[in-house]
Amino acid sequence: MTNGYELLVEPTPTECAETAAGLIIEALAGSSTPVLGVATGLTPLPTYAELTARSFDVSHLQLVLLDEYIGLPADSEASFRAAVRRLLAEPLGLPPERVHAPPHEGAPTPETCAQFEAHLGALGGIDLQLLGIGRNGHIGFNEPGSALDSRTRVVELTAETIEDNAAPFAAARFVPRRACTQGIATILGARQLLLLATGRHKAEILRTALLGPVTPDVPASAIRLHPRAVVIADRAAAHLLRTGDDDVRARGR
Ligand code: GLP
Repeated sequence: MTNGYELLVEPTPTECAETAAGLIIEALAGSSTPVLGVATGLTPLPTYAELTARSFDVSHLQLVLLDEYIGLPADSEASFRAAVRRLLAEPLGLPPERVHAPPHEGAPTPETCAQFEAHLGALGGIDLQLLGIGRNGHIGFNEPGSALDSRTRVVELTAETIEDNAAPFAAARFVPRRACTQGIATILGARQLLLLATGRHKAEILRTALLGPVTPDVPASAIRLHPRAVVIADRAAAHLLRTGDDDVRARGR
């Protein structure tokens, strides 16, 4: 089945974050083993701020990262683990043991990647996976060409992605060239997906991902294979979608 997603268009990133936080809290409340899959990048920041400002039960909450760089020092503040600890885990009062990441130390192997997948299963699976969308359509670090049945693995980052992720580093040349990412099939294994896209610079790729073919060339298009995928976009990111046609169901304000 394709096009099985719901699109919510909000006026600004602030309203996107409010709506996203509400959906996340609802999804976690329905689980006896609440596991939130988290994304990095700039897009989810207002959602994390909103989540940390709300009151909800975090007593059993576990956080799982989509991806992590390989080769950063363990105490690097530029790692995705550090970002998630800073932005979400610490403000919510979660200890570091409740933040889980794909293998990233030394050289992850197919065995350690498979162990991570088994660990996800042992946690009870991901209730809701939050996703951003890269300029080239990547989700996690699944770059264009990633197989739709891919699982957690080591990937080489594209020059464009390295450039886009350079902000926490002194310069693009310090961004690691390799990362370990959940695969597309791993992401599709979450019980619910929530893709966030804000800003005009995401409009073109969002249109391609939602209205073009489902293809490994545009990894984000794979969310349409999921039975419970929600896309929240602000008006700027959604302006190229003809909301109201058969492919897109919009609930604007
Ligand atoms: C990185 C992350 C992705 C994220 C993307 C978009 O590549 N690995 O998970 O979706 O950046 O980032 P931004 O939200 O800053 O556009």
